[in-house]
Amino acid sequence: MRPVLVETVAALRTRVAEARGRGATVGFVPTMGALHEGHARLIEAARRDCGALVVSIFVNPLQFDRADDLARYPRALDRDVEMCRGLGVDLVFSPPVTEMYPAPAACTVDPGRLADHLCGRFRPGHFRGVATVVLKLLNIVQPDTASFGEKDAQQLAIVRRLVTEFNVPVAIAGVPTVREADGLALSSRNARLTPAERALAPSLYRALRAAADAIEAGETDAGAAARDAAARLPADPLMRLEYLDIVDPDEVQPVREIGGPVLVAGALWVGGTRLIDNVRCEPPAGAREAARARRSPS
Ligand code: PAJ
Repeated sequence: MRPVLVETVAALRTRVAEARGRGATVGFVPTMGALHEGHARLIEAARRDCGALVVSIFVNPLQFDRADDLARYPRALDRDVEMCRGLGVDLVFSPPVTEMYPAPAACTVDPGRLADHLCGRFRPGHFRGVATVVLKLLNIVQPDTASFGEKDAQQLAIVRRLVTEFNVPVAIAGVPTVREADGLALSSRNARLTPAERALAPSLYRALRAAADAIEAGETDAGAAARDAAARLPADPLMRLEYLDIVDPDEVQPVREIGGPVLVAGALWVGGTRLIDNVRCEPPAGAREAARARRSPS
C-alpha cells in the first residue's frame, strides 16, 4: 500500500490520532528527503519497533547557513514516497515551508555549548535550526520513539539533550552509520561528487579510522592521534580538511587526554561538496595509566 502523504500539521495529527486509536505505538524518522540506503536502514530499524511509522521529508531552511547549499539541496519527493512505500512507512509528512514557518521564527532553540565545536564551529546557526525543527516535529508528531543516525553524531547528541532538558516524552534511538563498501558514509550530498571527487571521498573515513585504531591500540594523546590521522589524507588540490577533532560523545567538547569513549569526527571539502563523518572508539583499559608511566618513569 502507498503510504499516506500529508502536508499539514492538522492532517498529520488526525492520522496519528487514528493510529493511536487502534492502539498502535508511533515511530518517527525525520529526514530532509533525497532518501538513500542510509535513510532506508534507519527507517527499517524504526519499522521493527512500532505499530505506525511516520517519516517526515522537510528541507528545513532554518538549518542552512548558506543560501547556495539550500538551493542545491537535492529534492526527489516522488521517488522518496515510492521508497517509503517499499519500507512499510504509514505516513509521509511533507509540509511546505509556510506550514512549518507561517511567519519567520521568533522563538528558536539554542543548543549552547553543544554547538561550539565540530560542525557547529563552522556552520553558525546550523544546530539552532536543527534543534528548533526537531522540537517542532516532535511536538507535531508526538511519537513514542524517534530515530536518528549516528552519522550526524553532534546532531544526535544535541537531540538527546534537547528531549532530556525540555522533558519531551520520546525515546531517542541512535542507528549506526551505513557506509559504501569503501567506507564512505552514505549521504544525500554524495550525489554531487564527480568521479574524481568520489574516488577521494573515502579518505575521510580512512583518516578517522586511523585515529580510532591508534586510540584503540593505546594512544591517549588526542592531539597526536588527530594530527597523525590528518597527515594521512592525500594532498590533493580537490580536497580541504575543515576539521578533524576528538571530542567526548555527550558534551561534544574537545578531549586532550583520552580516558574513555570519544568521537573522532571530521569534515572534508571535496570539490564543492562538504562531507562529514565520525567514528566512536575508546582506549583499552589501563591505557591512560600506561601513558602516564611512559611520560614520567619512576
Ligand atoms: P538528513 O540529512 O536527511 O538525515 C535524516 C536522518 O538520516 C538523520 O538522523 C541522519 O543522521 C540519518 N542518516 C543520514 N545518512 C546516514 C547514514 N549514512 N547512515 C545512517 N544514518 C544516516 O539529519 C537531517 O536530515 C536533518 O538535520 C533533520 C534531523 C531531518 C532535521 O532537519
